[in-house]
Amino acid sequence: MILKYVYGTPIETDAVVKEVDGAEKNIPFFNVEKTEETVTFSYQMEEDDIVYGLGENVRGINKRGFLYVSNCSDDPCHREDTNSLYGAHNFILVDGKELFGVFVDFPEKVTFDIGYTKRTEMDITVNDVNFVIYVITGEDEKDIVKQFRQMIGQSYIAPKWALGYGQSRWSYMNEGEIREVVKNYRDNQIPLDMVYLDIDYMERYKDFTVNKEAFPDLEALAKEMKEQGIRLVPIIDAGVKIEEGYDIYEEGLEKGYFCKKEDGTEFVAGVWPGKVHFPDMLNDEARNWFGKKYKVLLDKGIEGFWNDMNEPAIFYSEDRLKKAFEELAKLQGENLDIYKFFHMKDLVLELANNKEDYASFYHEYKGQRIRHDKVHNLYGYYMTRAAGEAFDELEPDKRILMFSRASYIGMHRYGGIWTGDNMSWWSHLLLNIRMMPALNMCGFLYTGADLGGFGAHVTEDLMLRWLEFGIFTPLMRNHSALGTRRQEAYQFEDKKVFANIIGIRYGILPYIYSEYMKSSIRDEMMFRPLAFDYREDSFAKRVEDQLLVGDSIMIAPVYEQNAKGRYVYLPEKMKMVKMKSLTERTYEILEKGHHYIDVDLDEVIFFIRPDKLIPLSKGGQFVEEVDFEDLELLSFVETEATYELYTDDGFTKEYDKPEHFKHLISK
Ligand code: GLC
Repeated sequence: MILKYVYGTPIETDAVVKEVDGAEKNIPFFNVEKTEETVTFSYQMEEDDIVYGLGENVRGINKRGFLYVSNCSDDPCHREDTNSLYGAHNFILVDGKELFGVFVDFPEKVTFDIGYTKRTEMDITVNDVNFVIYVITGEDEKDIVKQFRQMIGQSYIAPKWALGYGQSRWSYMNEGEIREVVKNYRDNQIPLDMVYLDIDYMERYKDFTVNKEAFPDLEALAKEMKEQGIRLVPIIDAGVKIEEGYDIYEEGLEKGYFCKKEDGTEFVAGVWPGKVHFPDMLNDEARNWFGKKYKVLLDKGIEGFWNDMNEPAIFYSEDRLKKAFEELAKLQGENLDIYKFFHMKDLVLELANNKEDYASFYHEYKGQRIRHDKVHNLYGYYMTRAAGEAFDELEPDKRILMFSRASYIGMHRYGGIWTGDNMSWWSHLLLNIRMMPALNMCGFLYTGADLGGFGAHVTEDLMLRWLEFGIFTPLMRNHSALGTRRQEAYQFEDKKVFANIIGIRYGILPYIYSEYMKSSIRDEMMFRPLAFDYREDSFAKRVEDQLLVGDSIMIAPVYEQNAKGRYVYLPEKMKMVKMKSLTERTYEILEKGHHYIDVDLDEVIFFIRPDKLIPLSKGGQFVEEVDFEDLELLSFVETEATYELYTDDGFTKEYDKPEHFKHLISK
């Protein structure tokens, strides 16, 4: 059951698509405290209550013990104590004495103090008195999530080829580098489907332009790549460069499509290209205009994009920078004591993503003029919506790959997300594992992290262990930052091992694709905490580093350096599969309980549940080479193992046709 509570006169976010009537009774479970500016919902937690959810956030599967703030933030160096990441995903699920879900539909800041201030108290504070809050009750965890997901609408579905492996780097500077990457992959027989174009493919970081010197004929390059089974996937940034003669800038200016300040002049921020304006993605007309610009690249044979810097990230605003320089000039020649020194430092450090800047420009949203900070968390969502709506018009019958950095619930209907700039840290591999179920709860199914880590220098063992987990995530992309150690799979000593591990992804692709498609079509979670399926098992509730992936398997990734294996908890008897490559496999039936499992660095393990099976293909160098007909069934048969395989052409949009679902049986 879904109970809806409307406070004041909320701003519509378009997160929810299903009509829900306002509830008559008072909100259950919570104590509500109102001030003139905020509303706080307090819940007394029992010692064993678990709180799941919050999508993209730091820490565990169980979110207890910390304070999370929904406020889309560009934080490339996030750590354990970071309160806000790139997305704002206000859904939680309380599981214990009571069982219920909560969704706070509010586009500004929401604070989830989950036993941070007081260990057993949860306080959800909304930074306003106008918002909608939903309370969802149901039979079990999966039922509550499903009701929530039905309410927010079906998740975006990526083309099948986008479930292949992708290589990215900030940046491959010219077409020669792209060819070299592809050649290295193909020569070493390491499968690959996508090469990503980061900001340097553009002409001076201008959206929808191509640097003609570095990429003289992008259309021809895209064609040449496609002949080898590779798609090029360019980045699009939120800010539009201010430059005379640049058509998008001039058109946007003339039509009044950029965000303006109080005085009616365009807000000027600094991002990669230097000074930019932000298109008013919340304004229907401006959004439609921006979305249609993707056509420039679609026309060159491009079939996928990633939307970036759309929190929006601000390096500086023109106004703040001016003031900072004035202040700095005053400090010149001064004896900088403790206060003056830190003041000087702060002048520079506080330039980026400054709260006051977010409160200094406006949107024209649904007939109202709204200050940006009041709808901050919608910007990335609406940028991606711009693209999604345009794709539906421009390419009605074709799936276009789209994923974004910033997001809000609702955006999951228009694209996936990657989890932003992480680090080549073991702790970020663990974070990636733990985040997956929470992201799925919030509707983000086409999702994954920068494998190997974006910032910092990766090591070969971290890269391998991360790939060994990444082969299960729908978005499987290796991406790294400028200046870091190269981390393409062929850069390491034992290229064969990389070919084998990535090859396993192509072997299990019929499973990964089927599970991904079924979860999207049915509003379910592909990645689940153990406790969701083993409800009566009190130990399953404690497990923070194993996941159920789809219907048939449990995974237990290794995420520690120099570990030769790990402890694994089996909530029931399962068949362990160890794979060094698609063909080198061993099996062992393990009893319910605790086990120490050896896991070599060059090996993938997973566990098949009783009477379940996983369809295995012969693999391929790219997705279109994978034969979904010629399958081997890896099964753990107690009486009879069954499986529902999903097969379609992988690029058209008739997802729900009965002929796409095939029943496989293994006796
Ligand atoms: C941002 C993105 C990152 C990208 C970089 C350059 O940091 O998150 O993925 O490589 O910008 O475009």
